[in-house]
Amino acid sequence: MNQSRFWPMQEGINEIIATVRLHAAPMGVICRGDRIMMAVFRSSHTASLIEETGLVVANIMHDPVIFVRAAFSDLDPDDFIEFEEAGHQVCRLSSAESWVVYRSRIDQKTEQKLLVSLEPIRIELAESTIVPINRGFNSVIEAAVHGTRYVLTRDSALKDKIDHHVDLVKRCGGERELEALRLLQGYLS
Ligand SMILES: Cc1cc2nc3c(=O)[nH]c(=O)nc-3n(C[C@H](O)[C@H](O)[C@H](O)COP(=O)(O)O)c2cc1C
Repeated sequence: MNQSRFWPMQEGINEIIATVRLHAAPMGVICRGDRIMMAVFRSSHTASLIEETGLVVANIMHDPVIFVRAAFSDLDPDDFIEFEEAGHQVCRLSSAESWVVYRSRIDQKTEQKLLVSLEPIRIELAESTIVPINRGFNSVIEAAVHGTRYVLTRDSALKDKIDHHVDLVKRCGGERELEALRLLQGYLS
C-alpha cells in the first residue's frame, strides 16, 4: 500500500484527540488536496489555546471512553505526558497509540470557526496495531460528535441521530463501548 502524503493521517477527516498544553478535545484533522487542516469552533478552549501556542498534538487512539471524556470534561493531569518540542513544552496523552506534533498557523477566522493549517514537525508511531472495524466504536464517535452540538442546542433532530447510534453501540459494541455510552448518556441528560 502506498504511504499517504498525509501520513500517518489519511485523506479525508481523521478523528483524533487534540492536546494543547494540559487540555484535550476530540477534533478532526482534515487532509485534502495538499493541505492538512483543522476547523475549530472559536467557542472552544482548544481554539484559543491553538491561537496562543501555535502547536497542537494529534493523538491517534481507539479508546471510546477517552473520546467521550475528552469531549465533555477535563482529563486528569495524569492522563498527559509532557515533553519538549521545538523549544516549547507540549503534551500528549499517555494512552495515545501514535501521535503527531503539528505546528499550526491560523489561515482564516470566521465568526464561528478558526481554519488552521498544520505542518507535522514530529511523528511517533506505536508498533503497528491492528484495529478491526467495530460499528459500536464508530457509533460512539458519531453519537459524541452529535452530542457536543446537542448539549448546546437541544435540537431534537440531533437527538434522533444520537438515538440511532445508541442502538448500534448496544448491538455492536464491547464493554469499553458500553462504558463510553453510559458516560455519554450521563453528559447528555
Ligand atoms: C469525534 C469528534 C470530533 C470532533 N471534531 C471537532 C472539530 O473538528 N472541530 C471542533 O471545533 N470541534 C470538534 N468536536 C467537538 C469538540 O471536541 C467539543 O466541542 C469539545 O467540547 C471542545 O472542547 P474544549 O472547549 O474543551 O476545547 C469533535 C467532537 C468529537 C466527539
